[in-house]
Amino acid sequence: MLRSPKDFFKPLALGAPEPLREIPVTPGRMIHFLNAANPKMVAKVPEMLQQVDVLLGNMEDAVPTDQKEAAREGFIQVVKDHDFGQAGCWTRVNSLDSPWFLDDITRLVAEIGDRLDVVMIPKVLGPQDIYYVDRLLAQLEAKHGLQRPLMVHAILETGGGVAQVEEIALASPRMQGMSFGPADLAASRRMKTTRVGGGHPFYRVRTDPDPDHPEAPRPTAQQDPWHYSIARMVDACVNASILPFYGPFGDISDAVGCEDQFRAAFLLGCVGAWSLHPGQIEIARRVFSPDPDEVRFAKKIIDSMPDGSGVAMIDGKMQDDATFKQAMVLWNLAQQIAERDPEYAEQYGIEAPAGATAG
Ligand code: GLV
Ligand code: MG
Repeated sequence: MLRSPKDFFKPLALGAPEPLREIPVTPGRMIHFLNAANPKMVAKVPEMLQQVDVLLGNMEDAVPTDQKEAAREGFIQVVKDHDFGQAGCWTRVNSLDSPWFLDDITRLVAEIGDRLDVVMIPKVLGPQDIYYVDRLLAQLEAKHGLQRPLMVHAILETGGGVAQVEEIALASPRMQGMSFGPADLAASRRMKTTRVGGGHPFYRVRTDPDPDHPEAPRPTAQQDPWHYSIARMVDACVNASILPFYGPFGDISDAVGCEDQFRAAFLLGCVGAWSLHPGQIEIARRVFSPDPDEVRFAKKIIDSMPDGSGVAMIDGKMQDDATFKQAMVLWNLAQQIAERDPEYAEQYGIEAPAGATAG
């Protein structure tokens, strides 16, 4: 059961900060995964912080069990040693049913709670998981005197999670967004694939037989096995005013497949994706930065109807209230990206502030 709307924004522990009423929309084109138990990856952190919108300390899958503690303590050190600047500081803790979750959350909030923006919770089964994390975070915030509430991001990667995606999105004012996790979701659903995102050659539709040539080859086309779930996630997030992200693309060597998967998610409404390897950072940057022509056109729409009302004709296309809103989404995002990415600032015709770094 959801809390009463009257209580929804009350802190869940005495002394915890008030929950946010609005989720800040900051660029999250790529959420870059760091295993801080790996000294080679840690050495690259300063360079990564110049390039990525979000740097995430990963504790969960892909971190071997004998490195769980090193990944946790390593990330604490990374955060203490570096100024993240404009990059978001996120973590993915181990799942709630693991032996590491409790230490992850208590150590991280105690040591770097004032620096962390978002805590990603994997393998969410339903809103009950978010209620638990919500209360626990409030207790830890109160204990450590944090002034700013931590946000929660759920990974949509279980059949139960998809069935209850709307309830998860609405479960707490901490909910910042969701990422789509095709690997665990495939496992949870017992889908017959070992891939992490992307299409599958067996998932296709075939045209009807030609009655005059029943033996003639019948063309087929590969379909997108993730379309339904990603679209549901986007709707659930929009309904709750939180942000949808695509998660991992596992085949690091397949840059084209990765770009196609990211772009399909972008077109459906996702605002970013995970980068598991430095090579995927640039792909996400290209895909999730709005197209410069679109941004310039959006600016034209806004300039032609500054208060958002009425009707305008631009280059033969009718503009109204709805296209004005679409234009505002693009323009606001472009402005934020321009603040940290001079190359895009130039393409968008927006002046980048002095000190913008990423590229
Ligand atoms: C991500 O965590 C996934 O399981 O795809
Ligand atoms: Mg997973």
